[in-house]
Amino acid sequence: MNRLDNYEVLNQLKYIDGITIIDNKGTILFTIKFNPIFHSEIREREEILGESLFTVFPSLNEKASTLLNSLKTGRPIFKGKQEIVDFMGRKIETTNISLPIRAHGKIIGAIELSKERSKEDSISNNAIEINSEMFRGDKRLLESIRPERAKYTLKDIITDNEQMKNLKRLTEKTAKGSSPVFIYGETGTGKELFAQSLHNASNRAEKPFIAQNCAAIPEALIESILFGTIKGSFTGAENNPGLFEIAEGGTIFLDEINSMPIHLQSKLLRVLQDGYIRRLGDRNIRKVDVRIITASNKRPEDCVKDKDMRLDLYYRLCVMTLNIPPLRERINDIKPLLDFFISKYNVLLHKNITNVSKEVYDFLLRYNWPGNVRELEHIVEFAINQIDEWEDTLQMKDIEDRVKNFIKHSEEEFQIEPLKDAVARLEKIMIEKAINKTKNNVSQAAKLLEIPRQTLQNKIRLYEIVPKS
Ligand SMILES: Nc1ncnc2c1ncn2[C@@H]1O[C@H](COP(=O)(O)OP(=O)(O)OP(=O)(O)O)[C@@H](O)[C@H]1O
Ligand SMILES: [Mg+2]
Repeated sequence: MNRLDNYEVLNQLKYIDGITIIDNKGTILFTIKFNPIFHSEIREREEILGESLFTVFPSLNEKASTLLNSLKTGRPIFKGKQEIVDFMGRKIETTNISLPIRAHGKIIGAIELSKERSKEDSISNNAIEINSEMFRGDKRLLESIRPERAKYTLKDIITDNEQMKNLKRLTEKTAKGSSPVFIYGETGTGKELFAQSLHNASNRAEKPFIAQNCAAIPEALIESILFGTIKGSFTGAENNPGLFEIAEGGTIFLDEINSMPIHLQSKLLRVLQDGYIRRLGDRNIRKVDVRIITASNKRPEDCVKDKDMRLDLYYRLCVMTLNIPPLRERINDIKPLLDFFISKYNVLLHKNITNVSKEVYDFLLRYNWPGNVRELEHIVEFAINQIDEWEDTLQMKDIEDRVKNFIKHSEEEFQIEPLKDAVARLEKIMIEKAINKTKNNVSQAAKLLEIPRQTLQNKIRLYEIVPKS
């Protein structure tokens, strides 16, 4: 391979998602794959340590393997495309850089940095290439327009909460159609998770899923990124498809839609109304078949009220709305999510937490969760990171640093009083909230609170709750 080709490979390899090290006999000494497509279970990784490269990847031979080539020749190898079939029969294409490892003047092994080349990847690379000219090397912006792969499905949404279970059922039903879907939820509630799951539950699952955060790109570029450009439409413009064309047949997920400038919202309306887009500077229109999912952490009605969203767009986008409740309104989800994240980080960080102290658990139940599920995950990740290997119980001291401010705040707020009074006060607040949220519908409020309707009615009388008009 000449130097120009090497440069091209390096250019393709904008990041890596796997590292493998072998010794001079081809035995795997170390491997870590950050892309789940390589190995579905992290446990598998341990199982392949000490195995020969050929056992794990039976399709490889000395010629085809960049690692072995590098080992043999003692030179770095750049390879744009290596096809491997793993021991589970899955075909994976990678772009690799392999380097020999030397000690005391002898080659003792080789290291390979690799990146999976998926269908979506080549699409995303296109999108980056298309737009990279305009970004003039601003890396943060480039990152923000990389379309996400839809890796989550409805099964990944952990919940024990009735309202959430209904939402999952609704998502599954909605996925079958192709009407636009609006997802509302506070930060960290799982909007992206639902958007990806909806795509994967639809018959578009095999087609692209393109995610774009509307707040992450400068206003001047949104139009060309979404709708594309034609040569000469402005200085330096080329014939480039926009994300709508790239997502053909699939789904486009427009996050933080309320950040999209109002004048562009009318162009979006056109796609929604008759399925046509017009590239910037183009006379012609093009037909596209793309399902639109939008999301915002501001209620759609408030977006309209605050003039962040056109009323006509609101009607079009909110044909189906998924309202994800905040974590503090579904505290029965804390236990299953806690268990899930503990197992996840036990495996990832080689720890062995099997219990949670009562103090921690009680704290998590009364915490107000401004960052919702993401915050819970971060608290667990933080705790398990710094916990000692021999510990088996998650204790208050492990999470204290993360939640110090809240503890201070709530300790000041709560005075000691008879427990039954404190519980009654909280019960009253919860019931009032549920009644207001459901606009005085007692049956719906009872469902939210997960208590029988009659019990709720008795409590309303007991606490003399008067509905707000
Ligand atoms: N029910 C759930 N089960 C498992 N993981 C969840 C659940 N809800 C959220 N998560 C996890 O929490 C994190 C945040 O979720 P996500 O990115 O979908 O939130 P978001 O609503 O899009 O947040 P933002 O408004 O900040 O963009 C992710 O790591 C996601 O996997
Ligand atoms: Mg999000």
